[in-house]
Amino acid sequence: MITNTELEYKGNLYPNSIIDFKRDTDKLYFTTLNGVILEITILRDSIFRFRYATENIFEADFSYAISENAILGYNQLEVEETATEYLIRTAKLTILVDKQTLRTQVSDLTGFIVCEDELGFHWEENYEYGGNTVKMSKITQNTESFYGLGDKATHSNLKGKRVSNWVTDQYAYGKDQDPLYKAIPFFIGLHNEQAYGIFFDNTFKSQFDFAHERRNVTSFWADGGEMNYYFFYGPSFGQVVKDYTNFTGTPELPPMWAMGYHQSKWSYFPESNVRELAATFRKLRIPCDGLYLDIDYMDGFRCFTWDKNHFPNPKKMISDLEKDGFKTVVMIDPGIKIDKDYSVYQEAIENDYFCKRADGAFMKGKVWPGECYFPDFTNPVVREWWAELYKEMFTDIGVHAVWNDMNEPAVMEVPTKTAPLDTRHNFDGHPCSHRKAHNVYGMQMVRATYEGIKKYVYPKRPFVITRAAYAGTQRYSSTWTGDNVATWEHLWIANVQVQRMCMSGYSFVGSDIGGFAEQPSGELFARWIQLGVFHPFCRVHSSGDHGDQEPWSFDDEVTDIVRKFIELRYQLLPYLYTMFYRYSKEGTPMIKPLVYFDQKDPQTHFRTDEFIFGEQILVCPVQEPNAQGRRMYIPRGTWYDYWTDEVVPGGMEKWIVADIDKIPLFVKEGAIIPKFPVQQYVGELEIKELLLEVYYKKGVENSTVYEDAQDGYDYKKGRFSLRNFSFRGKENELIIQQFKEGTFITSYGTFKMNFHGLPFKIKEVRVDNEIVELKDVKLNGNNNIHISKEFTVLHLIG
Ligand code: NOJ
Repeated sequence: MITNTELEYKGNLYPNSIIDFKRDTDKLYFTTLNGVILEITILRDSIFRFRYATENIFEADFSYAISENAILGYNQLEVEETATEYLIRTAKLTILVDKQTLRTQVSDLTGFIVCEDELGFHWEENYEYGGNTVKMSKITQNTESFYGLGDKATHSNLKGKRVSNWVTDQYAYGKDQDPLYKAIPFFIGLHNEQAYGIFFDNTFKSQFDFAHERRNVTSFWADGGEMNYYFFYGPSFGQVVKDYTNFTGTPELPPMWAMGYHQSKWSYFPESNVRELAATFRKLRIPCDGLYLDIDYMDGFRCFTWDKNHFPNPKKMISDLEKDGFKTVVMIDPGIKIDKDYSVYQEAIENDYFCKRADGAFMKGKVWPGECYFPDFTNPVVREWWAELYKEMFTDIGVHAVWNDMNEPAVMEVPTKTAPLDTRHNFDGHPCSHRKAHNVYGMQMVRATYEGIKKYVYPKRPFVITRAAYAGTQRYSSTWTGDNVATWEHLWIANVQVQRMCMSGYSFVGSDIGGFAEQPSGELFARWIQLGVFHPFCRVHSSGDHGDQEPWSFDDEVTDIVRKFIELRYQLLPYLYTMFYRYSKEGTPMIKPLVYFDQKDPQTHFRTDEFIFGEQILVCPVQEPNAQGRRMYIPRGTWYDYWTDEVVPGGMEKWIVADIDKIPLFVKEGAIIPKFPVQQYVGELEIKELLLEVYYKKGVENSTVYEDAQDGYDYKKGRFSLRNFSFRGKENELIIQQFKEGTFITSYGTFKMNFHGLPFKIKEVRVDNEIVELKDVKLNGNNNIHISKEFTVLHLIG
């Protein structure tokens, strides 16, 4: 252990004693004798930013991650100085700063320590590149667990693990392989029922060690830049995730069709092949909204061009597909073919848009088209140009959406798989090398894509997909988990990755259903579909090397199972859309691991398989072959088995029967789940009646249903419909109150309410305190009623 007077230990440098303190409104500055400045910004009563300078100088303050819409404001801020420390008090927490060591400690109002520095900030000078390797270490509690960090393909609880953040093209990655495609340096710590979060907003390669090297220490560090992190206090897990998400931003609502089922392959071509694919979906009555064109639609893999042999008239094809309810999504990569006759290349050369090496040569790398140059998307001028390139594609040809791939950027045939580290970047006016820009390169590419599409698809909403991402990329784009493999283990990985991404602020995510590399068995494909329909982004994609991966590529039984589950997704669209609304508005993750759902139950801390879809549906995929069911943990509370309506008490492990045509699925008691009829694509049918599945509970539960025009921006002018239902069940009666917000008028006039588990026979129905003749509410048997959507209080008496 070092003492506070030793300034150098094992090559590391440490701050020493504080010689100066200053306050500038919400910012507090502590300066040490050896030139370290700690800047603490009080962002909210429970959200702080810690930033450290060495040599008395901070870098320019700039972040790609932090959203301009982050909510700021605190209620109280007092600083007290004692002989040994400074105590900073807000309405929720106290930060202690030690005068001798600059170490900090955050405790709640009862004095309970939530998070404290071990060695705290320290650094190592980097003689090769300049600057410092910046490091932080914190004390880990014995019972502490850790979550988050993006797409790590490892156990959801990160305790005992070390992971790194360096976006990487990892074809056919394996379990525990690291790093992968995303760099999201945010984690959640949980101990003694209290959750906090740390977001290390540093784009250099960073590492996190969760009590892996030393049992009671968690540390994180980066190859350059500043020690610059945000601290979020819960104490609930959900609050931490929502606050982090608020700081790094949420996406606007996508068009509802983006939440439908999507079919992709590398690659569907020529045109006849795409048309046949579309026709087969309709013929077999398997709902589908999105068809994807991978790189082969291009002319020699030149972005923004079409292979006219395979696609002689893309405009006509896309419009015909659109008439049949399909949206066409095309791929765009960052590598621009070096070809003097190619207009995109010419423009970029003329305007100096390509990345250059340290000594001025272009950064050259091999991708699909052969040797390429790469636009510097960290330059705002380049982003504007890139956005404009989408004009023709959208306004003339009629493409509906774009996926950006290979944007790590992936470079072939080099061991690093990416750009050389000396590559220069603009970094929005803060010139730097690829060491700093690498992790945000893909983010800035998809940001430019998003800006372009948003402009040219107007008045409709944009939909974009990216492979690479840094924290905050969720504002611009959905994402998928990259090149996975058709194995059972990868089904497990997909489940963990999607949950983890949702905990990392990034909910619009899914995996290549069925696996990208290799060929799944029909059984694996069916099980993967059963999971995939509960992921916010639901797309089958495969490399196409090993046979087909369409819903009908296996046997009839599999096709029927796949249809059944895609139909279920389409029925649940209003529920899913409401989940998205809450994610967009409040930062509530669309999928929640059990630890999020019930952090006080230690059983949940190590669960990986079960998750909550939205607020009220519990899902647990079957991840083994030949299974007729599985053991799973049912979290506390009371649940209805979705398939049988059996009431299941939680707080225990249970064997759940789930033959190949079922996935363990439960609904929380008291829930009101909205359902659409099955449609072949979003918007096919005018909804005549909204089905509400009502699960009886003796007690209270709230549910919401959000609706709008499913596309466009009218919802921003108040044209949405948000129904808040509060359910109250008693022995012999139940009361549902409806409180409606927004001016959108839904196409239907009535609800069909389907009651599950009602312990009594309905004898009387009152709407807004008036007894309604049973014939008027169209009572069908015991369990369902049709009723006007306008009620405020519905009262059923048995
Ligand atoms: C790599 C992507 O991850 C994959 O989805 C795509 O099919 C290939 N590139 C070809 O474009």
